[in-house]
Amino acid sequence: MKLNDLSSYWMPFTVNRQFKAAPRMIVGAQGMYFQTDDGREILDGTAGLWCSNAGHGQPRIVEAIQQQAAKLDYAPPFQMGSPAQFELANRLVDLAPEGFGQVFYCNSGSEAVETALKTALAWQRARGEGTRTRLVGRERGYHGINFGGISVGGIVGNRAMFGALLAGVDHLRHTHDPQRNLFTQGVPEHGADLADDLERLVQLHGAQTIAACIVEPIACSTGVLVPPRGYLERLRSICDRHGILLIFDEVITGFGRLGTPFAAQRFGVTPDIITMAKGLTNGTVPMGGILVREGIYETICAAAAEGAVELPHGYTYSGHPLACAAALASLDVYREEGLFERAAGLEPLWQEAVHSLRGLAPIVDIRNLGLIAGIELEAGPNGPGTRAFEIYRRCWEEGVLIRVTGDIIALSPPLIIEEGQVAHIVDTLRRIIAQVD
Ligand SMILES: Cc1ncc(COP(=O)(O)O)c(C=O)c1O
Repeated sequence: MKLNDLSSYWMPFTVNRQFKAAPRMIVGAQGMYFQTDDGREILDGTAGLWCSNAGHGQPRIVEAIQQQAAKLDYAPPFQMGSPAQFELANRLVDLAPEGFGQVFYCNSGSEAVETALKTALAWQRARGEGTRTRLVGRERGYHGINFGGISVGGIVGNRAMFGALLAGVDHLRHTHDPQRNLFTQGVPEHGADLADDLERLVQLHGAQTIAACIVEPIACSTGVLVPPRGYLERLRSICDRHGILLIFDEVITGFGRLGTPFAAQRFGVTPDIITMAKGLTNGTVPMGGILVREGIYETICAAAAEGAVELPHGYTYSGHPLACAAALASLDVYREEGLFERAAGLEPLWQEAVHSLRGLAPIVDIRNLGLIAGIELEAGPNGPGTRAFEIYRRCWEEGVLIRVTGDIIALSPPLIIEEGQVAHIVDTLRRIIAQVD
């Protein structure tokens, strides 16, 4: 076997043949930078994959993981516990908006979504509303890649290859309204009425068939769609009116990305279930989870027979000791370094910096909130996505990591980013966007 043989590894969400012809290899990471195998430093404009909120190689988190591995490497999560699981759950409930009661652990954002959807169905059944089996997602939504997630998700490329998906799923319209909201700084003004689509689905299917509605507070993976002012409030009130659980998929927006612990606090709208992952452990050890509002756990427990497992759901690695240690240390770092507040403080500068790109020929829209930005380009002469990918490739060569989805550049740097690094990312983009056909 040759050490540099790249053929055996089937890479996820990657153009494998293209990558293997011209690999990009990361061998280290520290603070705001990745190190490549050819000895270059790459400024991280994406917090890895929206997850390394406190930057890389954070000493306190590294040490917590090392110590935990030496002390307790694994404990079975069914019918037994380890103290860090309980401590972490208490800390997460404290971080959540008022009124949340319990945390359930899994290992990723995709699993958090499955867990949320199953919990919603179980709750409806436990409270005597077993006819509520329908799940509502949204066009352009991304909820991971498991069957439940792609069923409620709304990105065609992630769904089209995989058969009939879950039955009984419907979708709201997405909230992108280029006619009215182009180049909005922060929350767009127009489109709260798009939430009335849920009312339409209630009229179509009957409220008594709908268990839950799941949305990302900001649809990030599709290219950063910030919800119009009043939209989430309106969804909340339609859900309340019709007994529908509202799930916020906060896998990206959790842990300070919008300057608050969760997007729910930033928007002042409280869902019934929050999914989380990524920033939960600062991306260091795989972990996901859901937070449920008070009453959900109690109702499901009360409906179970004495001695029965109340929710037949869980993973071998639910509440894994290394993940719990990493999460506890991450929460310490976020709090002690004031990173959520730091993100809030940087937001105006970030907004001004990214919007300074307006006017460059191929840019058709710029959107932002918190430390997130989406820069949408006109498709290049070689077809959809090609111009953005070429910009991505050149940024990598010039030492800046960005993310692209179709013709949209998405930026989400670690919350420790310095002003000069914001300028460096934006100046690099300005130069490269102007060069690429
Ligand atoms: C909103 C949302 N939900 C779920 C997921 C899936 O998370 P994972 O890749 O950890 O399964 C993602 C990943 O980006 C996400 O953005």
